Amino acid sequence: MSVPYLDLPAQHHPLRDRLHEALDRVLDHGHFILGPEVGLLEERLAEYLGVEHVVTCNSGTDALLLALMARCIGPGHEVITVAHSFVATANAISLVGARPVFVDLDADTMCLAAEGVARAITPRTRAVVPVHLNGFPCELTGVEALCREHGLALIEDCAQAIGASRRGVPVGSLDLGCFSLHPLKALSAVGDGGFVTLRSGEEAARLRRLRNHGLVDRDTCGAVGLNSRLDTLQAAFLLVKLDALDEALARRRENAALYLRELAGAVTLPVDEEDVVQTWSAFVVRHARRDRLVAALAERGIDAKIHYPVAIHRQPAYQPQPALAVTERVTAEILSLPVAAEVSLEQAEEVASAVRAIVAEIDG
Ligand SMILES: Cc1ncc(COP(=O)(O)O)c(C=O)c1O
Repeated sequence: MSVPYLDLPAQHHPLRDRLHEALDRVLDHGHFILGPEVGLLEERLAEYLGVEHVVTCNSGTDALLLALMARCIGPGHEVITVAHSFVATANAISLVGARPVFVDLDADTMCLAAEGVARAITPRTRAVVPVHLNGFPCELTGVEALCREHGLALIEDCAQAIGASRRGVPVGSLDLGCFSLHPLKALSAVGDGGFVTLRSGEEAARLRRLRNHGLVDRDTCGAVGLNSRLDTLQAAFLLVKLDALDEALARRRENAALYLRELAGAVTLPVDEEDVVQTWSAFVVRHARRDRLVAALAERGIDAKIHYPVAIHRQPAYQPQPALAVTERVTAEILSLPVAAEVSLEQAEEVASAVRAIVAEIDG
């Protein structure tokens, strides 16, 4: 039995009729840009996440861009973030003209830590962008206090963490939260999409203008903005898929629980803390001979991925950069096992026994 990392056709199969109905509805009303489904989705997402406002846009990358633009972050400014993320996190910072300043990770949680952030703050710092990677909600109490003390924006990169929370506090609810609706995410469009969560109604109105060319009304451009609207059609699809999200996250948790149980002692497991709800956007384990493990899994038809094999501070576009010891060690050891909702418990069991057998062979 082969185990794909993700099976999008299987994900959509049970929703097919409702997705087709959504398509017909949008074709019939014809409001393809900022139609009624967009506002409805924003309301539903705000309710689901327990946040005050949601502004949708074209992608998670644009969500980050819009959040940075909303706080007037640009040339001459520094933004503190991590290098262990998808490049979009740093690219958004660079695209507004600011400089990403990479801090190292806590080795267990793979999140930035308040002490590292404190050391990186300079008079040019304007924001901190923590990344809730793999659906694990970072501890941000100390970082939030630093942001308050220094007047910095706290822009949480929640692209991989919809539904995650720590001590009952949902990711993205502290200041600004940026989410992706890319097909690889737990809640995904049939294409690209994203959204920003935020607390102020006034700022939400500003973001709505910024995502629509900065238009104040049909003919007046009040600020330079983007064309970054979520398609009405995608919003209509997402309304259907949002209804299925809790079940999908529950399935991911079952697979993750199986791995946590079955792989103890074989590989370094991700942390799972009591007061934390994580959403397992990826189930990332670590092993010193990661490449051999990935290749041996592939031989057995099991698709493991590496998120991400080259940290951002080592990407050609970001040279030169100082070394980041923990980030580099983590990057060399990580692999992501198939954990998506469509991976059955039998398949997860097969993955776990393959990992155990291969590790025994290469460690033995
Ligand atoms: C951590 C992180 N940040 C930002 C993004 C960018 O999101 P998108 O692909 O929707 O632009 C992604 C998604 O791929 C991501 O994983």
